[in-house]
Amino acid sequence: MKTRILFTFLVSFCSSCPHNWYEFPSDDVCVYIIKKSQNYTNAVTTCAQLNSTVVKITNIFENSYIGALLSGLNDQFPFIGVERKSNGTWVYQDASPLIYTNWAPGEPSLNSSLNCVYLGNSTLQWYATDCSTERPSFCSANEMPNHQCLDGWIYSNETDYCYYLENFSYPDNIHWQFYDQSEAEANCQKKDRDSHLVSIHSDAENKFIYDLVYSNVANLTHAVFDPCSHQWAFIGYSGFGFPGNGSWTDGSPVDFIDSQPTPILANYVISNDPSCRLHQWSAIGPDWAYPRYVCKMPSSRQNMK
Ligand SMILES: *[C@@H]1O[C@H](CO)[C@@H](O)[C@H](O)[C@H]1NC(C)=O
Ligand SMILES: *[C@@H]1O[C@H](CO)[C@@H](O)[C@H](O)[C@H]1NC(C)=O
Ligand SMILES: *[C@@H]1O[C@H](CO)[C@@H](O)[C@H](O)[C@H]1NC(C)=O
Ligand SMILES: *[C@@H]1O[C@H](CO)[C@@H](O)[C@H](O)[C@H]1NC(C)=O
Ligand SMILES: *[C@@H]1O[C@H](CO)[C@@H](O)[C@H](O)[C@H]1NC(C)=O
Ligand SMILES: *[C@@H]1O[C@H](CO)[C@@H](O)[C@H](O)[C@H]1NC(C)=O
Ligand SMILES: *[C@@H]1O[C@H](CO)[C@@H](O)[C@H](O)[C@H]1NC(C)=O
Ligand SMILES: *[C@@H]1O[C@H](CO)[C@@H](O)[C@H](O)[C@H]1NC(C)=O
Ligand SMILES: *[C@@H]1O[C@H](CO)[C@@H](O)[C@H](O)[C@H]1NC(C)=O
Repeated sequence: MKTRILFTFLVSFCSSCPHNWYEFPSDDVCVYIIKKSQNYTNAVTTCAQLNSTVVKITNIFENSYIGALLSGLNDQFPFIGVERKSNGTWVYQDASPLIYTNWAPGEPSLNSSLNCVYLGNSTLQWYATDCSTERPSFCSANEMPNHQCLDGWIYSNETDYCYYLENFSYPDNIHWQFYDQSEAEANCQKKDRDSHLVSIHSDAENKFIYDLVYSNVANLTHAVFDPCSHQWAFIGYSGFGFPGNGSWTDGSPVDFIDSQPTPILANYVISNDPSCRLHQWSAIGPDWAYPRYVCKMPSSRQNMK
């Protein structure tokens, strides 16, 4: 329990922003500096590529924090994420209404060709400016989506869990490495105490896992014999293949099954390989081994709750 509390603390206060991003001291907001001067349109594009918007300043503390970062910009005044819509209303770049402003006296200018905003000098006040001027800028984002998962894991915003595919590996450069279900589960558990083979509880989560395990092995050049019957990935279910029966290795309820009941107790694997015409779960014997598996663990956001 202590470990969990410490982890939560680190996540919320020390490291919730990616490398090279700053964090607003009082919020779960990450900030990135674009030193390169470019027009507002290109600033929007650059921030969008980083899954963020041009900086959204929502209170005086954030305004001051951005102000403190100005020193790195060689006296150039940066765009902030405020713009005038064609109906004359000033909004954030994400189109939401301004909940804080710090206009300089006489601003915002009524000149209708000045539809963007830069953060001015020492007073850190806002000035309307032409969007085609070239300036540095800042991006901001709520806690970065990627950062909610460990490196190499993929976040699903629909389930708020992180997923990891152990994909094909060729330790001898020829043959796939194979695992049975208990080895796969043990490997998932080695990644994190909360990590297990994946459990699946909805159509949306099932689709996400199908997308994750997508492969195209029929024409692999240096593959095992009969790659189509060997390319499956373990999921965490063992049972007779109907809801309420059997178990997931993570202990969650068996409330979703994408398979037919089987006459024997089976482990389950999944495939989405068009080259093998496979898009299904499959029941397998207890000791059968396959080259792939999917792990699942709660996102760091869940750990913070
Ligand atoms: C932006 O988000 C997408 C989808 O979540 C992700 O694949 C991509 O890696 C992210 N890009 C950055 C720079 O974080
Ligand atoms: C102007 O448009 C924005 C959305 O683009 C809207 O939120 C705002 O209410 C509009 N303002 C007026 C005065 O129509
Ligand atoms: C409005 O701003 C534009 C761009 O800076 C400038 O060229 C123009 O002279 C301004 N118009 C007025 C009436 O000040
Ligand atoms: C900088 O501040 C001074 C006064 O504090 C003001 O006269 C001047 O216009 C400002 N310059 C810019 C570019 O904001
Ligand atoms: C910004 O610059 C790009 C070229 O880099 C240009 O295509 C675009 O029209 C410019 N936008 C504005 C608002 O000046
Ligand atoms: C998840 O993200 C996608 C793409 O950004 C979005 O369309 C969808 O509404 C989000 N779903 C939830 C539950 O937040
Ligand atoms: C897994 O490996 C296969 C075959 O090399 C590849 O097609 C697939 O894109 C990989 N999947 C991921 C998620 O990297
Ligand atoms: C699962 O189903 C099988 C076959 O119907 C049955 O023998 C077994 O007792 C069931 N297990 C549980 C835990 O319900
Ligand atoms: C593999 O085969 C599929 C159809 O079976 C084809 O669409 C795909 O282009 C092939 N990939 C390679 C790398 O040859």
